[in-house]
Amino acid sequence: MKVFLIGYMGSGKSTLGSKLAKELKLPFMDLDILIETHTGMSIPAFFAKNGEPNFRQLEAEMLRLNTLQHDAFVMSTGGGTPTFYDNIGWMNQKGISVYLEMSPKALVSRLKDGKSQRPLLSHLTHEELEPFISSQLAQRTLYYKTAHLIINGLSPNVQSIAQQLQSMGYSK
Ligand code: S3P
Repeated sequence: MKVFLIGYMGSGKSTLGSKLAKELKLPFMDLDILIETHTGMSIPAFFAKNGEPNFRQLEAEMLRLNTLQHDAFVMSTGGGTPTFYDNIGWMNQKGISVYLEMSPKALVSRLKDGKSQRPLLSHLTHEELEPFISSQLAQRTLYYKTAHLIINGLSPNVQSIAQQLQSMGYSK
């Protein structure tokens, strides 16, 4: 089984991903960390040096490469991953996608202290954060909502999600 966790920055994809992997007894991968290991640079440093278009190209390549190289896994992806290069089509075809849904308000409260690590948010003032997140989330929701499974990001129940994934009967 290949499970892809998708959702906006701050929705808890990495935390849930590693718990879900343990529950399903599968290896866990974090796409951002795969990119950082591959480039030897942090995501903010890569954005600053090479720009977003190069990041998106590498992100799409690393997503495909790691999907093909591993038989079964839980992978948390970046907030923007589903919205570029038909990555969402790839994930939906190759495995099971899970969207961690969360309201803009909840995301703002989670991201206000962690925005320096996120190149798309780091330049925003506190007042600019909520309108930016609301508008970007609205654009991205179109992609997120095509996931096979949509769950509430605020209080995800790991065991119940694992059971749902197993009972979905996918051989992917
Ligand atoms: C991004 C989200 C980040 C990272 C990059 C771009 C985005 O990952 O991939 O900063 O476009 O939403 P997280 O969702 O893990 O913060």
